Amino acid sequence: MNSRLQAVRGMNDLLPEAIGDWQRVEAVARGIFADHGYAEIRMPLVERSELFARSIGAATDIVEKEMYAFQDRSGDMLALRPEGTAGCVRAALQHGLLHNQQPRFWYQGPMFRYERPQKGRYRQFQQIGAECFGIPDADIDAELILLTARLWRELGLSGVTLEINTLGTPDDRQVYREQLVAYFGGHRGLLDEDSKRRLEQNPLRILDSKAPEMQALIDEAPRLLDSLGGASRAHFDRLCAILDRAAVSYEINTRLVRGLDYYTHTVFEWVGEHLGAQNALCGGGRYDGLVEQLGGKPLPATGFSIGVERLVDSLRAVGVSAASATPDCFVVSVAAPAGEALVAAEELRDAGLAVICNCDAAGFKSQLRRADRSGARVAVILGEQESATGQVGIKPLRGDGEQQTVARADLVATVKQLSKG
Ligand code: HAM
Repeated sequence: MNSRLQAVRGMNDLLPEAIGDWQRVEAVARGIFADHGYAEIRMPLVERSELFARSIGAATDIVEKEMYAFQDRSGDMLALRPEGTAGCVRAALQHGLLHNQQPRFWYQGPMFRYERPQKGRYRQFQQIGAECFGIPDADIDAELILLTARLWRELGLSGVTLEINTLGTPDDRQVYREQLVAYFGGHRGLLDEDSKRRLEQNPLRILDSKAPEMQALIDEAPRLLDSLGGASRAHFDRLCAILDRAAVSYEINTRLVRGLDYYTHTVFEWVGEHLGAQNALCGGGRYDGLVEQLGGKPLPATGFSIGVERLVDSLRAVGVSAASATPDCFVVSVAAPAGEALVAAEELRDAGLAVICNCDAAGFKSQLRRADRSGARVAVILGEQESATGQVGIKPLRGDGEQQTVARADLVATVKQLSKG
């Protein structure tokens, strides 16, 4: 059998032609995090399954249906991480990073969810995220939102809108849950199968339903915002006031409940108008109970994650694309003594130039074609004759400069002048 293997469904290769856009996103994000005092943290891709059941929630779709969970050879139940928040809290607790501190972390890396793949939804996808600990005030929720807004601006992204909501405290939610059970229970005949199941397990998630026949009923449902306790209301009002003051537009979406159980108070999503069905570009919120739930002392926390595939798609949709990197020069060598070409390339690199060195015995014409295709501005030509006379050929590849022959000692200066000029 000679069948070629393919990548696993929902897991994509990121090819060189696309990498420039990704690197640009990563570089801009890295710069913004540094400017806001966020430290990078890197967690393992694999954690104990229990970590996710205890944080995201055992009854959520992510943990119940989408996790890549497996038993390793010693019988431990492990999982590929479906998100970064749980691992970040675990790491911060494990290494004592939360004592009397207010750390702000950021991370990036692949996450794994066994979802049905479609445009914008993959089984391995990349997130850039941030998590802040120890600050109970709405100001830090607002800082995260302003930081993401700045990221969109610096990247040149338009067509994104911010939706915010509050989920209050667990007590607020308990009261609300009962209101929802009474309301939806009173209309049981109108519920679809999914919502009937959710009514028992997690009635809040009914608000998330996309089923068209449910929409009118959901529109009339009681709103958590109307029954919040005073402190929760004040937290939310302060967030809105800061966003107003900072001129960040937002919509209050009382149906925004998010798909993970750890949230309290603020939740938010950035929605991209270019994204189609999978239009959430970034999601986050506050999770004041999670640190304690995972064995730490009670500590407020808040964060977000961006889906990088969706961000890159959005940037392409608005026509923002990174220029692909091209070398300054390409070293062509035909029958030159062994090592001559690589040594010349090294000298050019020592002088700060980006250089591709031809490394096989292809003919002169074909090497020149490679040089041209590489995008380099200049070809350096080392041939038998040049080597014998202590010279090199230098051929501008863009514009209409003439080929010249210069002394080997003048190689670096000449190429520098031509390639930067
Ligand atoms: P999330 O909403 O599950 O939140 O994911 C955040 C973002 O990751 C989404 O808005 C989306 O852009 C992207 N994303 C999620 N699933 C997929 C997928 N299957 N394919 C492609 N992109 C996807 C979290 O993960 C939370 N940990 C966010 C957070 C951090 N909350 C507090 N701190």
